[in-house]
Amino acid sequence: MSPQGPERIPMPDTISFARGAPSPDLIPVDAVRVAAAKALEDDWQTALSYGVGIGHPGLCAWIAERHGIPAEQVMTTNGSLEAGAMLFRHLLSPGDRVIVERPSYDRTLLLLEQIGVEFIPIDLHEDGIDVDAVEKALALGPVKLAHIIPNFHNPAGCTLSLEKRQRLVTLAAEHGFTIFEDDPYRELPFGEDPPPTLLSMDEADKVIHASSFSKTVSPGVRVGYLAGPREQIGELARIANENYISPNMLSGSLVLELCRSGVLDDNIAKVKVALQERRDALVDALGRHIPEARFVLPGGGYFLWADLAEGRDTVAIAANAKEAGAPFIPGTDFMLSGGQHSLRFSFASVPPEKMDEGISRIASCL
Ligand SMILES: Cc1ncc(COP(=O)(O)O)c(C=O)c1O
Repeated sequence: MSPQGPERIPMPDTISFARGAPSPDLIPVDAVRVAAAKALEDDWQTALSYGVGIGHPGLCAWIAERHGIPAEQVMTTNGSLEAGAMLFRHLLSPGDRVIVERPSYDRTLLLLEQIGVEFIPIDLHEDGIDVDAVEKALALGPVKLAHIIPNFHNPAGCTLSLEKRQRLVTLAAEHGFTIFEDDPYRELPFGEDPPPTLLSMDEADKVIHASSFSKTVSPGVRVGYLAGPREQIGELARIANENYISPNMLSGSLVLELCRSGVLDDNIAKVKVALQERRDALVDALGRHIPEARFVLPGGGYFLWADLAEGRDTVAIAANAKEAGAPFIPGTDFMLSGGQHSLRFSFASVPPEKMDEGISRIASCL
């Protein structure tokens, strides 16, 4: 013991695999600074005024062009989580049967739980949701909505195949349910582009697509959007206007500036390279320190989902890993039941030079 009292063992700098957010070095702060100044010079009247429910009309038009649809089919929101929450509250009632993927994005599960829907969890495979199981669920009774994360899934890392996309869109048309295509990672492939959006395949007005600039610019700008059937977008924009008048117009204006100037695409190209380097560093570190981990190699995005040996308890391991300065989220958070021996790694949040140290800390907690 030192004269000043017991010696403190310093907590190691945290290396967090928990948050689905980029590390600060992936945020294009200088470009955002320039875009904000330009938006306030050229577009200040729109940026600083009350808007309408769809948000910034120029940004809606830009997004619509990117999707090859009319501008009336797009509205912007304060992030895509808000978009989903609004749609769920509008469309769903307690007891409605809703298909969710197993595992799925934890915040979506919470939102649906609050509404009191009847969950129909359906397993994910390497090529996305088990569509045979979707058909079986439909045979048992009407389904109101299916929540699908098609690309570089959070948390599972997988991507829905073209064939499954076609089958899902056909089933939605035949059985009259809505597909909520929750797609914030589409622009972040490491190799091949993912198959076309479900939205682009939909001829029955059954798909509502959500995405955002959280992963391509920064999460703090809080600019997301919905694209879908004209009537439904009009109705949701009316509800948005009644609730909060308009989404943040200043953010909308600066994001539009980034889009128009080409800075967005430059940043996407840069971020993809950095994310791929992180994924590769994570895979190497897992091979060295946790060779029992089984996973589907994510072809893009932020996340890798790993299954450890049967009998592992990732809830307990997560508590110890947090103490050891390497937090992650256990699989149970992403499922209504099960997931005890699985976990999600966010590789976006960890610079490659820290990956090995972070994974070795987790390995020491096994
Ligand atoms: C699948 C999915 N949907 C929606 C969101 C919410 O994103 P935001 O509200 O920042 O657009 C996230 C964020 O991690 C996500 O992974």
